[in-house]
Amino acid sequence: MAAKAGSVFRCSECGAEQPKWGGRCDACGAWNTLVEEPTGRPGGRAVGRSGDLTGRPPVRLSAVEGGGVGRWRTGLAEFDFVLGGGVVPGSVVLVGGEPGIGKSTLLLQCAARLERAGVTTLYVSGEESPEQLRLRADRLADDPGQVHVLGETRLEAILHHAAALGARVLFLDSIQTSYTEALEGAPGNVGQVRECAARLMRFAKESGPAVLLVGHVTKDGGIAGPRTLEHIVDTVLYFEGESSLDHRILRAVKNRFGSVDEVGVFRMTGSGLEPVAEPAAAFLASRVTGISGSAVTALMEGTRPMLVEVQALATKAGFGTPQRVATGLDHRRLALLLAVLERRGGMPFRDLDVFVNVTGGVRLLEPSTDLAVTAALVSSVANRPVPADALFLGEVGLGGEIRPVAAIERRLAEAARQGFHRAFVSARSSVAAEGIVVVGMAGIGELAGQLAA
Ligand code: TYD
Ligand code: MG
Repeated sequence: MAAKAGSVFRCSECGAEQPKWGGRCDACGAWNTLVEEPTGRPGGRAVGRSGDLTGRPPVRLSAVEGGGVGRWRTGLAEFDFVLGGGVVPGSVVLVGGEPGIGKSTLLLQCAARLERAGVTTLYVSGEESPEQLRLRADRLADDPGQVHVLGETRLEAILHHAAALGARVLFLDSIQTSYTEALEGAPGNVGQVRECAARLMRFAKESGPAVLLVGHVTKDGGIAGPRTLEHIVDTVLYFEGESSLDHRILRAVKNRFGSVDEVGVFRMTGSGLEPVAEPAAAFLASRVTGISGSAVTALMEGTRPMLVEVQALATKAGFGTPQRVATGLDHRRLALLLAVLERRGGMPFRDLDVFVNVTGGVRLLEPSTDLAVTAALVSSVANRPVPADALFLGEVGLGGEIRPVAAIERRLAEAARQGFHRAFVSARSSVAAEGIVVVGMAGIGELAGQLAA
C-alpha cells in the first residue's frame, strides 16, 4: 500500500520515514511498526496550525490564568474522585475497558449529570445509533434526555458539530470507530487512532472543551491501537471488573491533573452505575466468617485503603504433581510463600493441592498482602478459622521474617472503621490504632501459635 498524497509511513520504533507500507521497517528492522501519518510532522510530533508559523507569543507564567481553573463535577462521587475532583476543561481523558464492562453507560451518565449542571455536552457514538442510545438512556436513573447525541465516525464532522454546538464536554464512543479523512487506513488502525487522538488533543487545548474518549482494550489488556495513545492524552482511566460480578473498578493509570493509581468503585444496577458509598468495604460485602482458610488484609489503592479477603484451600493431592492455582495473585508469589512456609515454618505443602483466591475480582499486587495469604494457608491446613475481626498486614521475606508495610496507620484506621479489632503485623512496625489490638510477629513461625491462641 502506498501512502496517500500528503502522508507517509513512519516507524514507531526508530522514526524512519518510508513512502510505502511494509511489514518491516527498512531502517531498524522492527516488525509491524510502520504507521501512516500526515506529512509535515517531523518526528511524529503534533503539528501546529498549518500555515501559521508564529502561533501565540510567549507569555510570563505568572500572567497565565489557571490557578482558578474550575473543574466540572459530575456528582458521580467515585468518578470525580478518580479524576482528581472533576473534569478539567481542555483535558482529554481516555476511558479504557473490555466490551460490556459499562464504559458507554458511565459516560452517558456523566453527560446527563454535566448537562443537568448547565455544561453543554455532545455524546458522539460510532458504535450505537441514537435510537440504541435512547434505549440505554431509558434505563438510567440519571436522565440524559437533554444531552445532544450524534451518530458519526468521521472526525472532521464530529469536530465541526462539537464546535457548532459550543459543546464544553465532548464524549466520543469510541476512538477506534473514528477516522480522519487525512489518512487512508481503516478506522481502528494504529495510524488512525493516533492521528484522531492527536487532533482531539489539539481541539481540546486550542478551543477549551474537555474530551472523554472510550477506548477498547485488547486481549492482553492494553488499549487497542498503540501504547502511544496513552502518552498523547492527559488522563487514562481503566474500567475493570468481572461482567458476572456487580462491582466495577475505575482506575487512574495516568493523570496529569490528579493522583495516579486512585480507584473508584461502582455497582452496576438495573438503572445504571452507582458509586459505592463505602468503597473500602465493598469487597468484603459477601464474606462469610467462621470458615477456615480466609484472612483479610488492607490494600492501598492510590491514597485509599481497601479491605479484601484472601481465601485458601489446601487439600490432599491425588497422584502426580500437586496443583497450585492462584486467582488474583501472582502464582510465583504463591510458590514463594509456600516454599517459605515449608522451609521456615515447617509446614509440608508437598502433598497438598493449593488453591488461593482473592474475592471480588481484586488483584494483590503488593507484597504487604503476603501475611494474609500465609495466614489463610496456615488456617486452611489447620482447619481452624482465623478470628473474624482480625486483619493481616505484612510482607514475608525468604527467611520467613515478617516485614513492615507502608501506610500502616491509614490501613489500620480504615479497618477499625469497618469493625476490625485485631491486627497481625510485623514486630518491627511500631504502631498503635484506636480500637485495634496490634499483635507484632517477627516471623511466620509464630503464626500458627498466634492463630491458635
Ligand atoms: P455498556 O455501557 O454498553 O458497556 P461498554 O460500553 O463498556 O461495552 O454496558 C453493557 C452492560 O451493562 C450490558 O451487559 C448491560 C449492562 N447494563 C446494566 O446492567 N444496567 C444498566 O442500567 C445498563 C445501561 C447496562
Ligand atoms: Mg459501549
